[in-house]
This record gives sequence, C-alpha cells and structure tokens, in this order.
Amino acid sequence: MKEQNPLQRATASFTNIDGELLQKVSNLGPSELLFLAGYCAGLAEHSPAQLNAVVTPSAANELSKGSQLKALILYASQTGNAQEIAESLQQSLESKGCKTNLESTLDIKLARLKDYALIVVIASTHGEGEPPDDAIDFYEAVLSKKAPSLNGVKHAVLGLGDSSYEFFCQTAKDFDSALLKLGSVPLIERLDCDVDYQQEALNWTTQLVGAIADIQPPTLTSPATVENIIQFPYSKEKPFAATLLIIQKLTARGSIKDTYHLEIDLAGSGLSYGPGDALGVWADNDKALVKEILAELNIESQARVRFKDEEFSVEELLRKKLEITLLNKGLIEALATVGGSQKLLEITETYYSDYIRNHQLIDVLKLANVTLEAQQLVAMLKPLKPRLYSISSSIDENPEEVHITLNHLQDENENGIRYGQASHFLTRQLEEGDKVNVYVERNKNFKLPSSDKAIIMVGPGTGIAPFRSFLQQREAEQAKGRNWLFFGNPNFNTDFLYQTELQKHLKSGLLTQIDVAFSRDQEQKIYVQDRLRENAAQVWQWLEQGAFFYVCGDMSRMAKEVELALLQIIEQQGNNTQAQAKDYLKQLKKQARYQRDVY
Ligand SMILES: Cc1cc2nc3c(=O)[nH]c(=O)nc-3n(C[C@H](O)[C@H](O)[C@H](O)COP(=O)(O)OP(=O)(O)OC[C@H]3O[C@@H](n4cnc5c(N)ncnc54)[C@H](O)[C@@H]3O)c2cc1C
Ligand SMILES: Cc1cc2nc3c(=O)[nH]c(=O)nc-3n(C[C@H](O)[C@H](O)[C@H](O)COP(=O)(O)O)c2cc1C
Repeated sequence: MKEQNPLQRATASFTNIDGELLQKVSNLGPSELLFLAGYCAGLAEHSPAQLNAVVTPSAANELSKGSQLKALILYASQTGNAQEIAESLQQSLESKGCKTNLESTLDIKLARLKDYALIVVIASTHGEGEPPDDAIDFYEAVLSKKAPSLNGVKHAVLGLGDSSYEFFCQTAKDFDSALLKLGSVPLIERLDCDVDYQQEALNWTTQLVGAIADIQPPTLTSPATVENIIQFPYSKEKPFAATLLIIQKLTARGSIKDTYHLEIDLAGSGLSYGPGDALGVWADNDKALVKEILAELNIESQARVRFKDEEFSVEELLRKKLEITLLNKGLIEALATVGGSQKLLEITETYYSDYIRNHQLIDVLKLANVTLEAQQLVAMLKPLKPRLYSISSSIDENPEEVHITLNHLQDENENGIRYGQASHFLTRQLEEGDKVNVYVERNKNFKLPSSDKAIIMVGPGTGIAPFRSFLQQREAEQAKGRNWLFFGNPNFNTDFLYQTELQKHLKSGLLTQIDVAFSRDQEQKIYVQDRLRENAAQVWQWLEQGAFFYVCGDMSRMAKEVELALLQIIEQQGNNTQAQAKDYLKQLKKQARYQRDVY
C-alpha cells in the first residue's frame, strides 16, 4: 500500500472518529466545549510527535491563539516581589483554565515571545533605573534589532518600583514601550506601583484576569483568587512589636563610619527567617524634624488631618506614617509650582540626583517659601516605607532572635545635619528594652547552597551582614563546604567589623580563607575587587570546582567593580573571550551560583 503523508493520516484518523463521540460532543454546552478544547490541546501538547504530524508549527500557534489563549507570564525580579506576584497570577489564570507559562527573564528565549497570544511582564527596577540582574540580557535583547515582530500579540505590563528613585519603574516602562514597538497591543494599561504595591498590584492582576476572561471565557471554575495564599503571622502590613535587646557600636572612635550591631527579640512572634533574608523595620520619624517642618509652614501640630480614611493630628501622622527624609521629583515639582520657586524648578531640571543625596523635605520647604494647610501638606507626601536590613544572624544559633548590622547615616548641608530616617531612629532614638515594629522580608534569590558546596562571599562594610548569618548557619549544620570571605572597610584599627568572631571562625576552620581590604591603611586605595584579582587563579579554581559566588553591600560602585573583576578573572584564567566570559557569568546566574544582595 502506498504510504500516506502525515496530513493524509490525520485526515483519515479524523474521519474514523466514531459517530457516537461526535454525537456526544454536539450535545455539550459552550463552557464544556471550551474545557474539552483546552483538554485536547493539552493532550496534543504533551504528545508533540502526534501534533507535528497533523499541523504545522505556525498552524499550531494559530490554534493556541484562537481556541485557547496561551499566555506567557514573565517576571524580572531581584528580591522576589515581582516573582511572587507572577506566581500568584499564574495560579489564578490556570485555575480559570488559561494555559500559562511562567518564566524568569533569565530563562526566556527572545524568539519564543512570538509563540504566545498574550505576554504579561511583571518587572521591578533596581540600581539607578536599571533592570534586575536576571533581566539584563533579556532587556538588552528585547530593545535590540534582533527582537521578533509581535504583530497580533497582546501584552500587559506591571511595574514595581519606588518613586523616591529618580527613574521610577523604568524597567517596566522600557519593556512596555519595547513590546509596543514590536507590534504588540496592550490588553490593559501598564501600572507603575510604588513601595506600597500589594493592593494596587492585586487590583491590576484582578483587572487582567477579567480582561483575559473577556477574550477567553473561563473553562474551569475554581475558587482560587489572585491573593497571595501564603500567610505569615506577622507581615509588612502587620509588623511585630519586638524588643530591642542590644545596640552595640562596631566601629571604633575615630572611624569615618558609624556602624552598629543590633539584637532584636522575636520571642512569641512565631517569626522565622533563613540566611539571606532581610528584616523590615518600621521606624518613626524624628520628633524634632517633624516640629521643624510644621514650624516652617506655620502649621499647628495638633491640626486634624485625614489619611487613608482615618483621622490623626498632623504631628502624629508626620511622625509615624509619612515619608519626610527621602525626596521625590513629584514633591519638589509640586512645591515649586505652589510657591513659584525658580530655584526648585532648576533643581529638578539640572542637579536633582546630587541634590536629593543630602537634602530632605525641610530643605525644600526652606527654598519653596510656601504656605500650606495641614491637609495640603499631607496630600503631597508619600506614605512612609519600611527600611530593610540584611539579617546577620542564623536562627539556629540564636533561637527567637534576629541580628542586623547597620550604618547610622548622617550628612551635612547648608541648613544643618540631616539623618537617615531608620538608621537614626534605631541607633539614636531607641534604647535597649524599647519596642520596634519589624517583619521578615524573604529573599528567594540570596540563599545558601547545599552544605557540601563551597562559597565565596564578598561583603565589604555592612555587606558582611548576611555572611555572618551564612557562617553561623554553616557552623550550626556542621556543613562540609569550604567558605571564603572577602571583607573591606576604610581602616583595620577602627573598622574590622566582627573581627573577633571572624578570627575565631578562621581558627576553627569554618572559614577556609579570609582576604581583607582596608582601603585607607596605605597610600594607594585597596578594595575587595583588588583582592579578588590578586587571588584570580584560586577564585577561578573554586568556580570551576562548583563554588557559589555571593556579593552584598554597596550597589553603586562596589558591586559593579566586583562584577568587572569577576568577568576579568573568568576571561583571563579560563582563556575566554569577553563574550564567553559574559556567557559563563550568565550560566553561573542561571545555576544560582552568582547571587547579589546589593543596595
Ligand atoms: C535588601 C536590602 C538590604 C539592606 N541591608 C542593609 C544592611 O544590612 N545594613 C545597612 O546599613 N543598610 C542596609 N540597607 C539599606 C537600608 O535599607 C536603608 O536604606 C539605609 O539604612 C538608609 O535608611 P535611612 O532610613 O537611615 O535613611 P533614609 O532616610 O532612607 O535616607 C536619608 C538620606 O540619606 C541618603 N542616603 C541614603 N542611603 C545612603 C547611603 N548609603 N550613603 C549615604 N547617604 C545615603 C538619602 O539620599 C537621604 O537623603 C539595605 C537595603 C536593602 C534594599
Ligand atoms: C537597591 C535598590 C535600588 C532600586 N532602584 C529603583 C529605581 O531606580 N527605580 C525604581 O522605581 N525602584 C527602585 N527600587 C525599588 C524596587 O523596584 C522595589 O523595591 C520592588 O518592589 C522590588 O521588586 P523585586 O523584589 O521583584 O525586585 C530599588 C530597590 C532597591 C533595593
């Protein structure tokens, strides 16, 4: 018999389907038919050999776009917020019968974008308006000429950000305009969420699920909602009033740094954490600063104001609920407009980034020369945001306690000394025994590997914090993996944080090696990246043997310099080209062997 081609075989098998089955199908209602269509598409997808025999890839694509919408949920996330939203969105869509693929921007292939009828991007912004680490390559690719046409595709973008940064939600904005340029059409409008993103993000994802249901009626019904299903006893919204046990200064007299070790009691909270997680702290604003702001505006401290459906005295509201140290462009522009201040407009247009580094609301008010009602002031200010501190203890070694390591921030400008909101509160306004509102912020992307793996930790300054936790954890677990620490700070005599502990770890063998860089102890500055380069052959050997590489601390200079040094080591020690070195680093990221906690 003459052999049939795949199309002929498919047609023959289709006409062989018995009449009874076709009769049953014709009796089904619309939602049952849609369910069946999705079910069959799923079966076909799990059996690619059969699918390829009947339909061409492009026809399969049309099919999935036509009968059952196939959505890509793509997240670009550094500390896990965007990832968490993406995961709950996937649960919600899947429960409504929408086929979805959830992918990190680290894993997605550019060419695969066009396989989807809908692309949902949930992206945070980091650095100074930069994409999260895992998104850098995809970000560059999607903005490049290599990006595929996305005609006929729909998209939706959710941005997570912080409006106190100059480039608010920049990554989400860039992804949105790149998708538009490639021909995709927005299904719903992009939303840029500020630090208080939970409710807004929930509303947006609910709107998106509704919009998808409009183009694809629900097939499976399940009560699952977009809401996060994991419930912790205490959270950002419902923090635990913990007791501050110990405040200990780590840097010695004469240091240019003012660094502290804090121990906080979590007893009775049920709160737990892992190495790599951060502690969220809700701090009150400085009383004197609040008084100064109200005096500048001639506002009576007990004037009543409304905020989020509640009434407060303006003084109380400014102390506990509103941001008064971190500036944002919108605030300066609003005050410039109200007071007609040319000087303020000039700041926003020319040297905004420099200005906000050491100026606060009170300084802007002094230039603005405005009169405001208490409620007008409240309307201009952002809600207070909690500050995060990398946890520097292991709960296994310190049951029911959490430790953090922080710099007290202080800077002087033409009007006086300005303090960091939370660091000043924690180190100057609280005393041992006082209460502080805290919660645990998980960081899925900064985690210890299994106990047999070697780790290289680069943590200068307060960047040492999570590595103190890592070392304690490895000690508690009697982990066999080797541990190498690079630490740096200005001077050996005053700034060797946790020196005694680290030396003890070195002696016990827990620390295989420690390399320190005290930048100001000699004429020529030496930093951790220089120590890495000096140890290039050994670093390379550790990496080739499977070591995990961690970086924590200053984002703006240190983390960038360390990455450059690492690339150079990969290039030179491994005889790689620049492109190969970049690819090696990308593979490290994919295997979670290059992790950063930078701020
Ligand atoms: C995931 C994560 C982990 C962190 N871990 C730690 C940690 O372990 N230890 C730690 O000390 N900090 C850590 N931080 C930073 C911390 O959250 C705060 O941003 C920092 O303490 C400043 O907060 P503040 O309220 O005291 O100052 P803010 O009121 O937020 O800032 C006050 C002023 O200081 C300026 N300013 C802000 N940061 C700096 C800076 N670094 N140097 C100079 N001026 C600055 C601002 O421009 C502003 O004008 C972490 C941040 C993140 C996101
Ligand atoms: C070090 C650091 C830098 C940041 N830079 C920006 C920025 O430039 N623009 C912005 O809108 N948000 C910025 N953010 C805020 C984050 O985007 C925001 O916290 C977001 O919720 C993080 O989501 P993720 O956990 O998915 O990464 C920054 C946050 C950190 C910790």
